[in-house]
Amino acid sequence: MDFKIAVLPGDGIGPEISVQGVNVTDAVCQKFGHQVSYQYALCGADAIDKVGNPFPEETFRICQEADAVLFSAVGDPKYDNDPTAKVRPEQGLLAMRKQLGLFANIRPVQTFKCLLHKSPLRAELVEGADFLCIRELTGGMYFGEKYQDNDKAYDTNMYTRPEIERILKVAFEYAMKRRKHLTVVDKANVLASSRLWRQVAQEMAPQYPEVTTDYMFVDNAAMRMIQEPTFFDVMVTENTFGDILTDEGSCISGSMGLLPSASTGESTPVFEPIHGSWPQAKGKNIANPLAQILSVAMLFEHFGCMEEGKLIREAVDASLDACVRTPEIQVEGGAQYGTKEVGAWIVEYINRQ
Ligand code: IPM
Ligand code: MN
Repeated sequence: MDFKIAVLPGDGIGPEISVQGVNVTDAVCQKFGHQVSYQYALCGADAIDKVGNPFPEETFRICQEADAVLFSAVGDPKYDNDPTAKVRPEQGLLAMRKQLGLFANIRPVQTFKCLLHKSPLRAELVEGADFLCIRELTGGMYFGEKYQDNDKAYDTNMYTRPEIERILKVAFEYAMKRRKHLTVVDKANVLASSRLWRQVAQEMAPQYPEVTTDYMFVDNAAMRMIQEPTFFDVMVTENTFGDILTDEGSCISGSMGLLPSASTGESTPVFEPIHGSWPQAKGKNIANPLAQILSVAMLFEHFGCMEEGKLIREAVDASLDACVRTPEIQVEGGAQYGTKEVGAWIVEYINRQ
């Protein structure tokens, strides 16, 4: 195949993990005889500093023309504590999602056998946890009408029926391909928007008779995720709930640095880690590149290149088994590996196969 990939390294640790994602992509393409080309583009705080816009027109064009976007992270502390800032790096990510119509964010939560003890939850609880969170990504409070003055502020959590239907369709279809269990997560006991979600889900469920569909309030789901994470197969939820629950989900795996995601919808799909830009670690060669590298696996799998994805996953597992790990998941007394060393080890593994 011929892959044209837009690479958006962004801020903080973004550029460092981006390099590792690109190196792995190169290694896989070489192994399987694919042609690949990269177009680099600005986003986030980096783009604000350089051109005054967190998602410049040029970046949008490059994304539109690509087959896939490999995105890393955005965010910079100089904006976090300045509620008056008019432009923010995160707006770049939101603009990208909106303009590319990426309404479905697929976030797999998985455990790695050798990392079970790294989870703050007891190993026997998280063992075997393997679920997908399907997060609606272009609606809800993130994009609804907003208002802010000195005395009053609001965000509107608005969803239309077509927005709900299309994300639920994605969720039912994933459930069909997996263990056929879908949990619709909402707050229908309080929120009107959630009641519409639940109504639409109940209307659609009979079209998927093989799928067991259940409904769970988000507060309860947050609890169930740590009480019995193996309960879940596919969960689907609105934008804000999905944001919160997937950070919680990363604790099941043991590190934020392990979870990739795919955002798909109307235009070019985007593959990105679920973690942020971790500015404190910038340039220190300590960030875990695995979430980015696993995003590359999701990229290949999205295009039906299953063997390619499998080889990347195998290489990642092998690196963990060999204790070639970044500090936050390293065993006590284990050798020191940084972002670059872990990436290089994985590339070498792929080359050797
Ligand atoms: C995520 C991130 C983003 C979000 C931020 C950086 C805007 O937390 O992808 O989960 O809230 O969606
Ligand atoms: Mn988040």
